[in-house]
Order: sequence, then C-alpha cells, then structure tokens
Amino acid sequence: MQAEKIYPRSSDKETVYLKNVITNPAIVVGDYTMYNDFVNDPVDFQKNNVLYHYPINHDKLIIGKFCSIACGARFLFNSANHSMTSLATYPFPIFFEEWGLDVSHITDAWDNKGDIVIGNDVWIGYEAVIFAGVTIGDGAIIGTRAVVTKDVPPYTIVGGVPAKPIRKRFSNDDIAALLKMKWWDWPVEQIKEHIAEIQSGKITDLERKYL
Ligand SMILES: CC(C)(COP(=O)(O)OP(=O)(O)OC[C@H]1O[C@@H](n2cnc3c(N)ncnc32)[C@H](O)[C@@H]1OP(=O)(O)O)[C@@H](O)C(=O)NCCC(=O)NCCS
Repeated sequence: MQAEKIYPRSSDKETVYLKNVITNPAIVVGDYTMYNDFVNDPVDFQKNNVLYHYPINHDKLIIGKFCSIACGARFLFNSANHSMTSLATYPFPIFFEEWGLDVSHITDAWDNKGDIVIGNDVWIGYEAVIFAGVTIGDGAIIGTRAVVTKDVPPYTIVGGVPAKPIRKRFSNDDIAALLKMKWWDWPVEQIKEHIAEIQSGKITDLERKYL
C-alpha cells in the first residue's frame, strides 16, 4: 500500500500520493491524499499549486488523509495579500534594499490571515482556489473553479466565486455519525474490510458495528 510509494496506479504518472512528493516542512499532508495533474508534473505540486508561501511567514498548509485534489487546485498564501492597512498597497518592505528599509519589517508588506487547514476525505475540484486562513471540514466538496474565502463546514458542498454552500452531503445525524466514526483513522485492514459499505453511501451497517 502507500508507505513511500509515489504513484497509486503503476501506469499513471499524472496521479501522486502527495505526502510522498512534498519536501517543504511547512506543508503537512496525510496518508493516501492524492493529487492529479495532466498539465504539469504532479510531483511539482508544492511549486505550482502552493503559491505566495514564503518561509518568513511561518504559515502552514495542512491537509488531512484521503483527500482528492484535482488538477490546478491552488492554495494562495499570505504573501499574496498586499497590506491594505497601509496607505499604499505597493509592497515597499519587500524592496528594502531599494528604499533603505530595515529587512526585519518585510512581513509588513502583507496581511497575515493564517494557515490553510484541509480536513480528511475532502474533494477539491478542478482549478479551485483556497485562500489563506481558510479551514475546510472533513468530507467537504469544493466545486470546480470555486474561490474559497471562508471556512467550509464538514460534509458541505460549496461552489462559486466567492464559494457559497450548495448543500450538505448527508443528514445532520449521518454527518455527526461520520465525524464520530472517523473511518480515515481506522487501521488500513479495517478500511479494506469495509470499502463496500463506505462506497454504498449508507452509514447504518457501519454505525451498528462501530458507534
Ligand atoms: C460542486 C459539485 C460537486 C456539485 O455537484 P452536484 O451536487 O451534482 O451539482 P448540481 O449539478 O446538482 O448543481 C447544484 C447547484 O450547484 C451549482 N453548481 C454546481 N457546480 C458548481 C460550481 N463548480 N460552481 C458554482 N456553482 C456550481 C449548480 O449550478 C446548481 O445551482 P442551482 O441549484 O442554482 O441550479 C460539482 O458541480 C463540481 O463542481 N464537481 C467538481 C468536478 C471536478 O472539478 N472534478 C475534477 C476531477 S476530480
């Protein structure tokens, strides 16, 4: 199974287990989360898809287990936000040499909205954009080309610019049960044993056994 493996499908070099291609310690990805890219090499995810993410900010991208990330989805970090509390959006502090400024004030050039946190079993659609400071709950779905500016509750489908809820995936009771069950944290053998029930979309049998 996963471990150090990069490609989940031996004949498909467009899909990678993200965890095994990330080298940046500020990006943390859970087991089995996969990324597909048919435009660029998916191995270059951290360069092509995690943008304006400079070490000086100490901001993190945290992605849970079993997420599916579609081609061109992007994570826009804090250095993309030119300061709006300044009288000028022009980022003088970045050009400290040119303007004789103290280098230690470089982060004054942008507003810092914080980390991006993606839960488990989140499906992020083609060319969606997730902004700094956003948290996406377990089981959420982000539609094609959504621009996600606000937190997304668990098991909620969002779409549009800015992304708005379209609907919940399950009843509130089933969502509560899924969040309690956390199938993604089960041992691999247990997940394997129950793939048919997970695929069925009906939680009753699993609830009886595990809650
Ligand atoms: C978001 C999504 C999952 C919704 O699927 P669905 O529930 O079957 O959606 P429907 O087609 O029934 O549409 C429901 C409503 O959401 C709207 N909608 C659907 N996708 C949308 C999107 N990406 N952005 C904005 N609105 C969207 C529809 O227009 C419709 O609006 P209405 O109720 O006002 O008529 C799907 O449209 C989507 O974007 N999937 C991602 C596909 C993708 O990017 N795959 C990449 C390869 S993995």
